[in-house]
Amino acid sequence: MADGLRKGLTSYGDAGFSLFLRKAFIKAMGYSDDALNRPIVGITNTYSDYNPCHGNVPQIIEAVKRGVMLSGAMPMVFPTVSIAESFAYPTSMYLRNLMAMDTEEMIRAQPMDAVVVIGGCDKTLPAQIMAAVSADLPTVVIPVGPMVVGHHRGEVLGACTDCRRLWAKYRAGEIDDVEIEAVNGRLAPSVGTCMVMGTASTMACITEALGLSLPMSATIPAPHAERFRSAEASGRVAAEMAKAKGPRPSEILTPASFRNAQVVMQAIGGSTNGLIHLTAIAHRSPHKIDLETFDRLGREVPVLVDLKPSGEHYMEHFHHAGGVPKLMAQLGDLIDLDAKTITGQTLREVVARAEDVPGQDAIRPRDNPIKAEGAMAVLHGNLAPRGAVIKQSAASPKLLQHTGRAVVFESVEDMTLRVDDPDLDVNADDVLVLRNAGPKGAPGMPEAGYLPIPKKLARGGTKDMVRISDARMSGTAFGTIVLHITPESAVGGPLALVKNGDMIRLDVAKRSIDLLIDEAELEKRRAALAPAVTPDWAKRGYAHLFNETILQADEGCDFDFMRGQGKN
Ligand code: FES
Repeated sequence: MADGLRKGLTSYGDAGFSLFLRKAFIKAMGYSDDALNRPIVGITNTYSDYNPCHGNVPQIIEAVKRGVMLSGAMPMVFPTVSIAESFAYPTSMYLRNLMAMDTEEMIRAQPMDAVVVIGGCDKTLPAQIMAAVSADLPTVVIPVGPMVVGHHRGEVLGACTDCRRLWAKYRAGEIDDVEIEAVNGRLAPSVGTCMVMGTASTMACITEALGLSLPMSATIPAPHAERFRSAEASGRVAAEMAKAKGPRPSEILTPASFRNAQVVMQAIGGSTNGLIHLTAIAHRSPHKIDLETFDRLGREVPVLVDLKPSGEHYMEHFHHAGGVPKLMAQLGDLIDLDAKTITGQTLREVVARAEDVPGQDAIRPRDNPIKAEGAMAVLHGNLAPRGAVIKQSAASPKLLQHTGRAVVFESVEDMTLRVDDPDLDVNADDVLVLRNAGPKGAPGMPEAGYLPIPKKLARGGTKDMVRISDARMSGTAFGTIVLHITPESAVGGPLALVKNGDMIRLDVAKRSIDLLIDEAELEKRRAALAPAVTPDWAKRGYAHLFNETILQADEGCDFDFMRGQGKN
């Protein structure tokens, strides 16, 4: 197969002319023939003024280019979609598959022998890895790295577990307007991704466990010099991969590596979003993430990393304690150490070099875990025939077995309008239910699963309630929150059948979530549901594509025609 600049020639019906034209135009940029005859490493540029998490991308790109050139290859930077969590309407999840398609097609369309993808803010690494798996070109992933921590009145702060905690205090009247403004300026003190174990950190850690990025690259803080040395080293690795034409993602990603990623996700107290993204990545390959296997691993794998929201520390503490290599060392035989990485080394070699840091308490040994079971549990029942997930490590233990009266919100808008209504019939033992917030329903499965505690209850001291929905939740959030109920209510899932006052039983030990209504009554309600119609927002453009082809959470919310085997 042709390589370097000769790869993927534009079709003019004359290959010689196509190459002649390509070289003529690229020479306009001042490249020499020597440069143009080298193996090419493409580098994605996801810098955007709208994406503060990616604020260090220009400096990372410079370091990658240096590494590529030091190894005798030619770096070519190209832009792709960039998605920042809080600047994406309606949600960043709505745009993840667009970014994955853009990245995949730009990797295919332009001549390159290897690619370096640089991302970090929640949906970007998943999108880039989905693209890399589909394009199957040798790929190095570079996470942009976490922010450093903030400080407020002697307290260490992190985005965005503490954003939510302090906002809840503000809602409860415990802090005033002046203080919440001060906090607002201190929660995100540097560029980089959220520095708790949210989705960005989860995806960076499982990328490292999958062997797609360099050791320690998940945890190095975004502004640190080490981040840029790691980027330079990544550039060198990518150049060698371009010369060797491998390894490709299909050679790295095996059942063992996907299992390792799930073990790490449970052990770090990972984000529930990570499960959806890992499922989508696997669906691009011949492999699968099976919810039952994931749940079984959760019973075997303890949470060892003491990070918010499940624990106390932040990503920089995890890094200084030895990062993912040290975690995998502590996990011992739960990790398959024969799994390969992009450097050609196995995880055994990575783990052998893990740093031993005396006195560190961010990564616990297996005999002294943060939680005896893993971060997440998968639930089934008549409310969730195809599954639901709860982050039990960040839930209130006393609510993990709970039966309560349903208080139903029809949509995110309905919840926003009514949740603080002083006349809302709700008490602390009730179960808050949000529907029409799934992949299709909202659309884009917003992170609305962390329903706010109704103000009148918050002011009375209620800190947590059982909340259930077909939505997602930020990995930075905490509470007894059942998410990703599948199938979602917008496609007729049983969540659509719940009425105010129905009793709902959650039993995490038994892995069940049930509506305590008999089947005959449920059938009556099902028959009375209005038939689905295409909503106005989905009549054209990307929205139409999204609405017609989006899969449910248990299949990773990819588009049905983007799976490895294509449309069924
Ligand atoms: Fe970008 Fe949290 S907002 S990682």
